[in-house]
Amino acid sequence: PPPILTSSDSAATSSAGEERHAEIKWDEIGFGIVSTDFMYVMKCSKGEDFGDGSLIPYGNIELPPSAGILNYGQGVLEGLKAYRTKDGSIVLFRPEENARRIKIGAERMCMPSPSVEQFVHAIKKTVIANKRWVPPFGQGSLYIRPLLLGTGSVLGLSPSPEYMLLIYTTPVKSYHKGPLNLVIKDELYRAISGPGGTGGIKSITNYSPAYKALNEAREEGFSDILYLDAATGNFIEEVTGCNIFVVKGNSITTPEAVGTILPGITRKSIIDIAIDLGYQVEERGVPVEELLQADEVFCTGTAVVINPVFSVTYNKTKAKYKTGSGTISSKLYETLTGIQTGLVQDIRGWTLQV
Ligand code: COI
Repeated sequence: PPPILTSSDSAATSSAGEERHAEIKWDEIGFGIVSTDFMYVMKCSKGEDFGDGSLIPYGNIELPPSAGILNYGQGVLEGLKAYRTKDGSIVLFRPEENARRIKIGAERMCMPSPSVEQFVHAIKKTVIANKRWVPPFGQGSLYIRPLLLGTGSVLGLSPSPEYMLLIYTTPVKSYHKGPLNLVIKDELYRAISGPGGTGGIKSITNYSPAYKALNEAREEGFSDILYLDAATGNFIEEVTGCNIFVVKGNSITTPEAVGTILPGITRKSIIDIAIDLGYQVEERGVPVEELLQADEVFCTGTAVVINPVFSVTYNKTKAKYKTGSGTISSKLYETLTGIQTGLVQDIRGWTLQV
């Protein structure tokens, strides 16, 4: 049978929501879950298209124990944000890019996916239903988490017979507090980053295999791990949940997204913005030595936005980089967040009013 959705009744959800909303301190939010009012659900069976979706109160979902997502991790996730502009309106940043990327991920994971139009419509509806949770201008954003899940029963290894697109939201601000100190552990690769793996999509199974190493790195005083390519161990690839850029003089370089790293939407936007601002940008293999000799290093992602890196430790070497005002990463940050909040002209039409 299809999974049955359960949630607290809507009256209870909304009165609890009123209280939570009244109590929220916008200047104290970080990157965690603050339950909002509604989530969006759209379902389909294998071999069919997604039909109409609906908004339901935010709450738990019920799945069979044998669901494909629970047993074999058949699922992909997305991440995007809604921003409050200075004039109080709400905009999304490039949602059709997430729609296209989830289709590519779904294809790799043998799952059906909604059309780009269905996906963007679902995102808009979810944001409108939760609009009071979009933080005031300049105080964060509403993080939107779409999940595409294999919800039907399977025991033998094969794609689930049923699927669900589930979208929930939470208000967020900074993922990291300040510049990062990264570590490269050359005996360690992202489990999924070999050629032909799933490093190039946002599979749900890409992230938790990194927790063990991430916890160890944090215990050693590092913010995160920078992974090298699994094939040669000579080139930098990706940080656990974000892309990486290296700056030397006027030139900005980032590892080429050739299937082993995530083709980030912030990454792609920063490449265009940097070219517009007159920098020379290259997407190619970046040897570790080049990283160690860089002037600046920064990470990009929907969650992290643009986060400067102040050091990278590799074997016994600790390379240090410029951070703070006047850096190229700070200029890129100002431009990107300016476009997202309406302060900088959106010449490429990246924002979409909800
Ligand atoms: C995002 O940046 O939206 C992500 O999905 C990264 C996540 C691992 C926090």
